[in-house]
Amino acid sequence: MARRKPLVVVTRKLPDTVETRMRELFDARLNVDDVPMDHAALVEAVRTADVLVPTVTDKIDSAVMSQAGENLRLIASFSNGVDHIDVASALARGITVTNTPGVLTEDTADMTMALILAVPRRLAEGAQIITSDPEEWNGWAPTWMLGRRIWGKRLGIVGMGRIGQAVARRAKAFGLQIHYHNRRHLPAATEEALEATYWDSLDQMLARMDIVSVNCPHTPATYHLLSARRLKLLKPDAYVVNTARGEVIDENALTRMLEAGEIAGAGLDVFEHEPAVNPKLVKLARQGKVVLLPHMGSATLEGRIDMGEKVIVNIKTFMDGHRPPDRVLPSML
Ligand code: DGY
Repeated sequence: MARRKPLVVVTRKLPDTVETRMRELFDARLNVDDVPMDHAALVEAVRTADVLVPTVTDKIDSAVMSQAGENLRLIASFSNGVDHIDVASALARGITVTNTPGVLTEDTADMTMALILAVPRRLAEGAQIITSDPEEWNGWAPTWMLGRRIWGKRLGIVGMGRIGQAVARRAKAFGLQIHYHNRRHLPAATEEALEATYWDSLDQMLARMDIVSVNCPHTPATYHLLSARRLKLLKPDAYVVNTARGEVIDENALTRMLEAGEIAGAGLDVFEHEPAVNPKLVKLARQGKVVLLPHMGSATLEGRIDMGEKVIVNIKTFMDGHRPPDRVLPSML
């Protein structure tokens, strides 16, 4: 007798090619209308599914996990980050968790570089001038719209994993000096290739950087890693860029410092209380002090299809009785 196809509940709309393949392989319950699932819908999903495919907008916390049915054996997240899932609680219930690492590295690094350029060079502000009121522009002037040069400046990367290193490769080509703080020192050959300087002390690195880029995951250990105290160590003409997770920076403290002119600017693709954005940050964006993006660091069609492919491979491998390639292990948290 043919084996029953696993019931795979997908919480959000995925690229068409990914959904088509999922329909072929699984008993896929898709969310083609893309209405985000509320708590009750997520509870219903974990009660019935063999496999849940959530993404960063779904809060799979201990309350949801506690309702998981007998059949739920795998949470194959359509995401790199897993801070929306109570992984410890899932693992304690014998539920495997996977993610989609590697395939959004280059796209996220591109967007990080875009913010590293956009903030000091006032890109969003400039683009806005032409589109909002072309009459306002009287032409080029020697002292108008001056930003800050990035060539030769010091970039401090907080979190030198795959994405941090991809940012470093790009930044080096733009003439930035690469500095980094990480849980582990990079192998000497990698450090040499990137001409990167390791700082064991995050405090000391922050105090000396012109631009700081946050590229570490959000875990209990990195929550508010850039705390109010640490932000105060930054030079007043420093810029902060964050394409990782809002929770890594104390956003209220950062906002206060931007308002007070104690830091030059920020480029943020992620927010502490996403999708809510602090109205004070929006005001600062209108004043040209910050560039805000709606969490689109990895938003390329190619990247999303690759993520879907990873999810499918993780489910298929697991269902075939093997270890899925992208298991989330307690040591990663
Ligand atoms: C992820 O997958 O964790 C990213 O934040 C999506 O951009």
